[in-house]
Amino acid sequence: MTSPILPSFTDINLDAIGTHSGRVVVVLSEPGKLHPAARRVNKLMRGALVRFAESDAFEKMKDGDTQDIAWPTGLQAEAVQVVRLSPRADDDVARKAGGTIGKALLGKDVLVLAGALKSADELALGATLRAYAFDDHQTNEDAPEGGSLTVMVSKPENFETTPDNIKALSEGVFFTRDLVNEPANVLTTTEFAERLIALGDLGVKVKVLEEDELEALGMRALLAVGQGSESPSKVVVMEWLKGEKGAAPLALVGKGVVFDTGGISLKPGAGMEDMTMDMGGAGTVSGVMKTLALRGAKANVVGLVGLVENMPDGRAQRPGDIVKSMKGDTIEVINTDAEGRLVLCDVMWHAQEAYKPAAMVDLATLTGAVIIGLGHENTGVFSNDDKFCNGFLKAANAEGEGAWRLPMGPGYDKLIKSHKADIKNVGGRAAGSITAAQFLGRFVKEDQPWIHLDIAGTAQLSAESPLAPKGATGWGVLALNRMVKDQYEG
Ligand code: BES
Ligand code: MN
Ligand code: ZN
Repeated sequence: MTSPILPSFTDINLDAIGTHSGRVVVVLSEPGKLHPAARRVNKLMRGALVRFAESDAFEKMKDGDTQDIAWPTGLQAEAVQVVRLSPRADDDVARKAGGTIGKALLGKDVLVLAGALKSADELALGATLRAYAFDDHQTNEDAPEGGSLTVMVSKPENFETTPDNIKALSEGVFFTRDLVNEPANVLTTTEFAERLIALGDLGVKVKVLEEDELEALGMRALLAVGQGSESPSKVVVMEWLKGEKGAAPLALVGKGVVFDTGGISLKPGAGMEDMTMDMGGAGTVSGVMKTLALRGAKANVVGLVGLVENMPDGRAQRPGDIVKSMKGDTIEVINTDAEGRLVLCDVMWHAQEAYKPAAMVDLATLTGAVIIGLGHENTGVFSNDDKFCNGFLKAANAEGEGAWRLPMGPGYDKLIKSHKADIKNVGGRAAGSITAAQFLGRFVKEDQPWIHLDIAGTAQLSAESPLAPKGATGWGVLALNRMVKDQYEG
């Protein structure tokens, strides 16, 4: 687990620049234009910064691009990092520019000379988010530890609340990343539930529903997925009801398959290790709840996650089995690897029965097909409500989290019609992400605003991205937190 390195914002102190022994970051906006702290760096470097700022190399840099000048003369620093960023740059560009700072932040003392940059808070957030490593399981690596981030600005009083805000956001995102990165022998359903119970310390009301309770509720579809595993299936309910008393909450529902072998419809071996991330939906829901609690959001939000493991076993469900969902609809299980929808349909139904939510969002690493369609840049978004959906897309866009709406429609339902049961759990190769959404849509009550987010391509990446190292991204925590803030508070 990595604790975020939180920024502190200080007055400009020119004398502290030359003696700083870690890294010094200079934000420059335009060729040749230096703010007072940058001028001090230039003077110490005997004009080298101005030479760079007036060079073709700088001219060619775009907002957010960066260049290291290693072991600079005249400073104690091991490097001067120049980040080009105009004061007019969008927030998400400033944040991604911060990512270039965060990449070298772990284990280092970094001093950022931001001048009068208004988006210095975004820059700092980006740095904090990028300074994450999942190295708990590396024993002989000298993993960098600690680090500090000091941002010199002309008006630190403008950033008084920024460190607390960055703490709430980054701890939520890191919580999600830790859960998603954790291997399945560590993050069993029981361990997952334990980590959620710990959110109780922050004021989240956490309830764990065990198998006998799930049985009593009629969640046979969810239980069927987990019946081949030694780990007991669980549903964890997290309540954060600090908004208007009695007002219907927003419900967040997450797929939490701690490992997806495919079950009896076993997946091919190559790449199967990636299925440790198949609890990504549950991971994001958990991270959002943590952020809401840390910032004391005045909103009513409930998070429900279905925690199961999909294993092949003598007790595992078989292709051809017919299970009854909590709603009462029967499902023919054609492929035991299409397990996420079996988990979600019961948790979504329970969420609606128990909370009559004002709106519901489910998140799931649901289909490989969404990766074929959208790659790793965008989450697949499905909805039955344009207004609700557009509000979410706006929030995602503002946070720089890719999201792209895909269609739904009754025409797709024929692909998942079963001749033995009410519905079958797969629809063939065509429109695989849409038929999955159609399946879920059957478990959404009439007039219930709903968004389904297929995060199979975005929850985890095989290469680093501007704000995260290779591995879990925490996609969706920031967008959902923003949506709550913009639409469910005050
Ligand atoms: N967890 C997978 C989807 C997935 C694939 C997530 C790749 C992340 C990366 C899901 O349970 C699954 O196996 N889906 C099947 C559905 C099919 C059997 C209809 C798939 O996408 O192949
Ligand atoms: Mn599967
Ligand atoms: Zn799965």
